[in-house]
Formats: sequence, structure tokens, C-alpha cells
Amino acid sequence: MITTPTPTDVHAEEVYSPEVTKTRQPEYSVHPLFLNRWSPRSYANRPVSDEVLHTVLEAARWAPSSSNQQPWRFYVAKEKAEHELFQSFLKPRNKLWAVNAPVLILVASQNVKENGDPNGAHAFDTGAAWAAIALQARLLGLSTRAIGGFEQEAARELLQVPANISLHAVIALGYRGELESLDPSFHEQEKPNTRRPLRESILPIPVNGEGESELEQE
Ligand SMILES: Cc1cc2nc3c(=O)[nH]c(=O)nc-3n(C[C@H](O)[C@H](O)[C@H](O)COP(=O)(O)O)c2cc1C
Repeated sequence: MITTPTPTDVHAEEVYSPEVTKTRQPEYSVHPLFLNRWSPRSYANRPVSDEVLHTVLEAARWAPSSSNQQPWRFYVAKEKAEHELFQSFLKPRNKLWAVNAPVLILVASQNVKENGDPNGAHAFDTGAAWAAIALQARLLGLSTRAIGGFEQEAARELLQVPANISLHAVIALGYRGELESLDPSFHEQEKPNTRRPLRESILPIPVNGEGESELEQE
């Protein structure tokens, strides 16, 4: 029988959070979840249950991938010794705040297909998996923040990462903490940021020699 996980603290995310609307306004009415997810650096001293952690990773499991290769792989540091090992390869500025996140997940991917051929989509697909993690975490009332600032070579050596595995980012996961728990040098940035206008992300297609995107014509 398939059982549905029922973690506590599920947020319906049906409205834009007041904190977010101070800096984020959608141009089109997307689901509030997309704006409500942002990346705080403050983490509360509150453990993440295995049920919640597994629910977050389950969301990644269902991400789309090229030929359904599911290239994403995760190193999950939750125990003290694992957490300390991860901290040892974070860049110092990131370690300053990530030390308080109860869970650190190193997002990796298998860069070859099951048949041994290179998988050109491994990073793209794994990015989709990370997005699923971030959104599912938010739905459960947790924060995430990705960390690209870590020592790749040190991480590879310490974790004995084989050549067919690429490393992407460490994800800090946990419940949000008080601002006071964060190093003062981060206080100013501890709020949702914004985005450039959508039209600036749409590239023109030069059908008649000259490209103009539909959004630019409006
Ligand atoms: C791949 C990746 C690497 C990142 N690396 C870092 C990092 O090293 N340190 C950090 O504080 N934030 C890092 N971030 C967080 C981004 O700065 C943040 O996601 C971005 O400013 C958008 O803000 P939002 O997530 O709050 O919407 C990273 C994000 C991604 C996706």
C-alpha cells in the first residue's frame, strides 16, 4: 500500500507572504509559492525530521530528466561528523552562516548515462531537482539556500567522489532562525531580493532576419 507522508507544518502557500511583497511583485499572477521561496541565511536550532527530509528529497526524485536518466545524486550531511566534514570544504563566508543549518545536502550528478555515454543534460536535469527541493522545502515551512562557494577539490577528496560524478552546490536546509542568530555582516541582505523584468529574459528569434520577441512588441 502506498502511504502519503503527512509531515507537520505544511504551509498552504496560497497567498504572497507580506514579507515578500515588500520587495517582490509578480508581473503575471504565478502561484505565490514561487515568490514566497527565497534563501535566508539564518537557521533555527531546530532539527529536521527524517520524514520531512525524505519528503523534500522525494520531490527531487520526481523531477523531469532527459531520457528519464535521473542523473541527480545527493550526499546528505545530518549527523555531527558528516556536518563538520561538509563545513571543512565550505568557503569561510558561507561557513559563517551554514554552520547553523541542521542539514547540508551536496547536490551532485552522474555525468554519464547508464550505458556509459556522456550525459549532456546531467547539470540541467539536476538543476530541476534542486528547484523541486527548494519549493517542497518551502511548502513544509523550511528554508533552503544553495552554496556554490565551496572547495570542489577538497570535497571530492574527502567524499571520495568518483570521476563520473559532478558536484554542483551544497544546499543548506532547515527552519528559519531569528535575525539575531546571524552574523551582523549578513543582516542587510537577509530579505527577499527581486528579479529583472521578464522581457529581458526572452531572447529574440530572427525569423525575418531581424529578431523581436513577442513580449518586446507589447
Ligand atoms: C548554484 C547556486 C550557488 C549559490 N551560491 C551561493 C553562495 O556560495 N553563497 C550564498 O550565500 N548564496 C549562494 N547562492 C544563493 C543565491 O545568491 C540566491 O539564490 C539568489 O541571490 C536569488 O535569491 P533567492 O534564492 O533568495 O531568490 C547560490 C545559489 C545558487 C542557485
